Amino acid sequence: MSTAIPLSLPDITDAEIRAVVETLRSGRLSIGPRLEDFERLVAQRAGRAHAIGVSSGTCALHLALLALGIGPDDEVITPAFSFVASANCVEYVGARPVFVDCDPRTLNMKKSEVERKITAKTRAIIGVEVFGNPAGMNELVALSAKYEIPLIEDSAEALGGRIGNEPVGAFGRVAAFGFYPNKQITTGEGGMIVTDDDRLAANCRSLRNHGRPSESMESGSGTGSWLNHERLGYNFRLSELAAALGAAQMRRLDELIEARQAVAEAYTRRLMGNPDLMLPSVEPDTFMSWFVYVVRLSDRYTPDDRAEIIEGLRRHELGASDYFPPIPLLPYYRLKYHYRPGDFPIAESVSGRTLALPFFTRMTERDVDTVCQTLELIMTRTTFRRD
Ligand SMILES: Cc1ncc(COP(=O)(O)O)c(C=O)c1O
Repeated sequence: MSTAIPLSLPDITDAEIRAVVETLRSGRLSIGPRLEDFERLVAQRAGRAHAIGVSSGTCALHLALLALGIGPDDEVITPAFSFVASANCVEYVGARPVFVDCDPRTLNMKKSEVERKITAKTRAIIGVEVFGNPAGMNELVALSAKYEIPLIEDSAEALGGRIGNEPVGAFGRVAAFGFYPNKQITTGEGGMIVTDDDRLAANCRSLRNHGRPSESMESGSGTGSWLNHERLGYNFRLSELAAALGAAQMRRLDELIEARQAVAEAYTRRLMGNPDLMLPSVEPDTFMSWFVYVVRLSDRYTPDDRAEIIEGLRRHELGASDYFPPIPLLPYYRLKYHYRPGDFPIAESVSGRTLALPFFTRMTERDVDTVCQTLELIMTRTTFRRD
């Protein structure tokens, strides 16, 4: 029964390899036409006027906060249940992250909980589409409008999804994508900011490029010289190699999403009847761009059981992982803000029981079956041994 099936695997074809090799041969390895092409493709997909490529999803969030002018003494609302970068970006600018517990079903922040945490110091709301699920984004847009607090959409896990006709990346005043190799498309490392706001876009372009005037992309060119640094900037640029890879992946996005959807459906069909597993749910009118396939064990299973199940799957050479620990309980946040177990009960309960299964475009039905059969066997053994 044991086959090596990793947790994730990028889908790279000859088209991507050709694009990267052509870039190498072109002699232009940074700030060039590949980045412009990649940015245009992502902007189009997200239905936004501007896209600014950067070196990671984390950099995209960091620059979005800087460009919005968020800093010390400000508060930013962000989910307790997300990847750590959704909160770290707030720390980078010296502001305070205000954590909100998640909805037990969608795993995204609940509007009522967000509203409860708004104060006179709140300068932004970071709405994350957890595991690619855009559920609740419209409600966050409404809150953002009501209180005139910008919504930063953290779409690092959700490229290609939509609610009705509204694409992911179009809900926030600004949105951030990430292209790490387990994502729907990859550039190895990389990220993208999208927005309709001209000033914000110009700020982000400047900030990613050492604070040069935003139009100054070439040595000695145009109105601003290459050595004119108008503000404290960063080098968060995305190389032409990464952008060429990203553009080739973007041209295959629909195909990649479709393949991921087929794997998700195969898992759901196979595991649907198991009373000890809660499967991911998709809201009506929502098109989910699947990032991971994460199941939740029933409360018969403790976090220790879950660890044993993950170990068991790995012993069979099947990728498995927990996903995610609540951010406020990670050592940095716990020590700095004195959070304690019990402060975010839903995120804690969910995160003690979640289990990410192997998930990538090229998984076959047989792979899915191998994973599910092994998982169910180990689950039975775990409770049997304990009870
Ligand atoms: C929700 C979320 N935000 C931000 C990021 C950061 O992206 P990156 O790893 O490209 O820095 C990730 C990455 O996995 C993520 O899942």
